[in-house]
Amino acid sequence: MPKRRILVTSALPNANGSIHLGHLMEHIQTDIWVRFQRLQGNQCIYVCADDTHGTATMLKAQELGVTPEEFIIGIKAEHERDFHDFLISHDNYYSTHSDENQQYSSLIYTRLKDAGQIIVKSVDQLFDPEKNMFLADRFIVGACPKCKTEGQYGDNCEACGATYDATDLINPVSKISGAKPVLKKSTHFFFALSNFSDYLREWTRSGALQEQVANKLAEWLDAGLKDWDISRDAPYFGFEIPGESGKFFYVWLDAPIGYMASFKNYCDGSDDLDFDDFWSVDSECEVHHFIGKDIVNFHALFWPAMLSASGFRTPTKVHAHGFVTVDGLKMSKSRGTFINARTYLDHLNPEYLRYYFAAKLTGSVDDLDINLDDFIQRVNSDLVGKVVNIASRCAGFINKQFDGQLAAQTLNPLIKEVANQRSSISNHYENGDYGKAVREIMAMADGANQFIAEHKPWALIKEDGNREKVQQVCSDGINLFRMIVTYLKPVLPELAKNTEAFLNIDPLDWNSLDITLLDHRINKFESLMVRVDSKTVAAMIDAGRESQELDSKPSTEEADSEGIADDIEFDDFAKVDLRIVRIVNAEHVEGADKLLKLTLDIGSGQRTVFAGIKDAYEPGQLIGKLTVMVANLRARKMKFGMSEGMILAAGSGGKRIYLLEPNDGAKPGMKVT
Ligand code: MSP
Ligand code: ZN
Repeated sequence: MPKRRILVTSALPNANGSIHLGHLMEHIQTDIWVRFQRLQGNQCIYVCADDTHGTATMLKAQELGVTPEEFIIGIKAEHERDFHDFLISHDNYYSTHSDENQQYSSLIYTRLKDAGQIIVKSVDQLFDPEKNMFLADRFIVGACPKCKTEGQYGDNCEACGATYDATDLINPVSKISGAKPVLKKSTHFFFALSNFSDYLREWTRSGALQEQVANKLAEWLDAGLKDWDISRDAPYFGFEIPGESGKFFYVWLDAPIGYMASFKNYCDGSDDLDFDDFWSVDSECEVHHFIGKDIVNFHALFWPAMLSASGFRTPTKVHAHGFVTVDGLKMSKSRGTFINARTYLDHLNPEYLRYYFAAKLTGSVDDLDINLDDFIQRVNSDLVGKVVNIASRCAGFINKQFDGQLAAQTLNPLIKEVANQRSSISNHYENGDYGKAVREIMAMADGANQFIAEHKPWALIKEDGNREKVQQVCSDGINLFRMIVTYLKPVLPELAKNTEAFLNIDPLDWNSLDITLLDHRINKFESLMVRVDSKTVAAMIDAGRESQELDSKPSTEEADSEGIADDIEFDDFAKVDLRIVRIVNAEHVEGADKLLKLTLDIGSGQRTVFAGIKDAYEPGQLIGKLTVMVANLRARKMKFGMSEGMILAAGSGGKRIYLLEPNDGAKPGMKVT
């Protein structure tokens, strides 16, 4: 078979947060596929990048007092370290804020415009008069026009499910400044997606998509496609639209083009890769995108339409996956299950997670649950108990009794059987059904262990005249182990590397399955993988919870309804000593983003409390006010000093935090009942 030439991508992680289990599932899934292709001898280039543009990055940088350009550099370095340490083999990890991306974005836009596929329309949009910027729906909150629930976002109501336009909200406010938004006209540029309905109806059924995905898209296609707004007004962190001033490409226009840009950047540094080979309309190479189900419309509607209208090839395949849940629930900061890559790496071996994801991936868009007990159990029983066990049972005899030398021949039928499963395992990898591949490989490991158990080399060695038999059994065991590790190499590249060193062989690939190691000297066996214990997993969850508490400010976006803590008795509640206090002083804390330092008169004396309400109140507004504090909270040392209690406030976070303000003759020191 001729070598396939394949370009593979994972979705570009947003440059405004850390890599977490969800991203890891995607990159591990992609990486296994990529490594499998390479081991088969195909040419497979894997590129990715940070997705840098948009309002979120701009605001985050502002919050930190740096430019967006400065901000994204630090994030990119962090993302690259995380992926590297999870053994993700990107050939290039780039940024959408690059010259190449600006060039291709402009080129594609210009071609779309020349083809008459860009439409200019005037739109009415809510505008923040304080920040001088137009507001996207998620930056506007108000009461639902239908059920009147407060605190709803600009596009739909979480309480009653109604969808509406941000302009319909009752008493809308800007989440950014708290100002009342005003309606303002602006010129926007639209990609004429509605012209592509027929094209997409065909394309989505051309074999590029999973059936589940194609069916979902058919519903949208039946409902009718709307033209797609691809412009945003300044201030916006992004690329300015050629020929227009103060107009920028919407982040989702240049994000997928970022795949091309990262690849172009890689080609420019390589002697034998040509961009056009992969991206021209008549290309014979393949392009595969791995993405989450939430971004299917961008990749399977907008993207192929844009590409075909601008004279580029479309993706060979879009592989969509579901969402990661932990112990059956959405990842949650309060439960400690919103686990960042680094938190995991601080505690556990990345190959455990790679294996666990592989064992559970099926190539469908179903969600994938990480059950922590199951995780421990699978790693220990499969990897340590089955796979590594084969080597550790056999290696000792070969090392000690035979000076590391393997037997000169083998007639063991198992070896042939295992080699014959090559095409079945390959199919499973190719189809993304890694779970099936893993099950078949584990059955091979069971077979190998059974073979060793039947022949009991530990008993044979004690009998006279059986030395040769011991060498034979253990050599066969080592050969089976070597083949099993070959099959697992896409999933466990580090284990494979250490196995190659132990066996004293060249890097394993799919062709190695045809070879048996005979009359060959291996090296001393050293532990290839250790067991996970539940304490380490628990420590990781605790660390996850703590790191989230340190850097997260509460916001409605992150709040999760299932996250109610365990019940407490009334007696527990009664232990909380709530007192009326007067705020006698309030001041900014140098170097703190969120804290104000409050001096509280509690009747019998004064207390200092650091409160995270800086976005919501100016110090001057607070002085003289009464509020309620938890007076018997043990003092805590914080970065900026001792905090001797807590004050009570509620709200959705940021500007929207409201101090409890008692009145009616309340006096400092009074107990709150
Ligand atoms: N920047 C866009 C992608 C642009 S691609 C041209 C984006 N970024 S993201 O950081 O929000 O998500 C990146 C990928 O991670 C997406 O494919 C998304 O589906 C995936 N995941 C994010 N959270 C996830 C889970 N909890 N579970 C599984 N994957 C999820 O979208
Ligand atoms: Zn409602």
